[in-house]
Amino acid sequence: MSPKRPSKRARTRSTARTAKGRPTLASRADRYVLYQRAVQDPEPEIAFIQRVFKRTRGRAAQSFREDFCATAHLATAWAKGHRARTAIGVDIDPEPLAWGRANVLAPEPEQVQARVTLARANVLEYAGPKVDVVGAFNFSYLIFKKRQELVAYFRKAYEALDRDGLFFCDLFGGTEAIVPSVESRRCKGGFTYVWEHARYNPIANEILCHIHFRFRDGSEIREAFTYDWRLWTIPEIRECLLEAGFRDTQVWWDPTDEDEYRLSESEENQPGWLVYIVGVK
Ligand SMILES: C[S@@+](CC[C@H](N)C(=O)[O-])C[C@H]1O[C@@H](n2cnc3c(N)ncnc32)[C@H](O)[C@@H]1O
Repeated sequence: MSPKRPSKRARTRSTARTAKGRPTLASRADRYVLYQRAVQDPEPEIAFIQRVFKRTRGRAAQSFREDFCATAHLATAWAKGHRARTAIGVDIDPEPLAWGRANVLAPEPEQVQARVTLARANVLEYAGPKVDVVGAFNFSYLIFKKRQELVAYFRKAYEALDRDGLFFCDLFGGTEAIVPSVESRRCKGGFTYVWEHARYNPIANEILCHIHFRFRDGSEIREAFTYDWRLWTIPEIRECLLEAGFRDTQVWWDPTDEDEYRLSESEENQPGWLVYIVGVK
């Protein structure tokens, strides 16, 4: 969910009516619903956070801050997981926040809603209560393209953590990450999620990506979300976390042949890889 709303061009590409004049599936679809179904899966992410937190801190994490939270799907799922848990969702864009408040939080029991706080704020400025875990997922922090900006963000995350807190972010890479490409995947609900690496600039190590959605009636929503990112490398992220004050960092590698991410310091490169990088306060 990029800060920029879909461009006028993106909207008009979702043809509104079929040849028979019926509204197309694309024109009736909600891009936030499609996004959640296509790229968000809170349960395994929360289980991973708790696994790493218990392993590192010997206890379960209770308080969580989801930075770049958009519709706060993960923050809400966190609070739903246990009565003792609290969650904060921070996003600069009022639109996904409002959508999340109405469609993700409002359907939950009051006792869950009472433990979730949504804040419309810039993560570079937000200063809320201290928490056990701060998370920046689906590569959202890659919008920070200058080193001092990235370190400034990691420093804000560091300051938001309790003394034994952990920071989590994810990253992708591999030989195919820097090659313009399109990959698609059919999703529950009968639509196709399309992830496009539209452009890569090696001089700045910047990548422009789009999410498109296609429907069985041939209609589509093009550029439903667009991301203009710097494709930082794992060592750069680790150095910036240490520069921001974290005492240590961990890399959890996504082994394609095993279920669980594993702690790692050396791996064979792959066409596409995913990692979690953890900052230890
Ligand atoms: C890729 S989406 C992330 C969605 C969600 N975290 C996920 O895991 O799928 C990025 C979100 O970051 C928000 N965002 C971008 N810059 C921000 C900033 N400086 N402070 C807070 N939110 C920001 C955008 O509004 C957008 O909703």
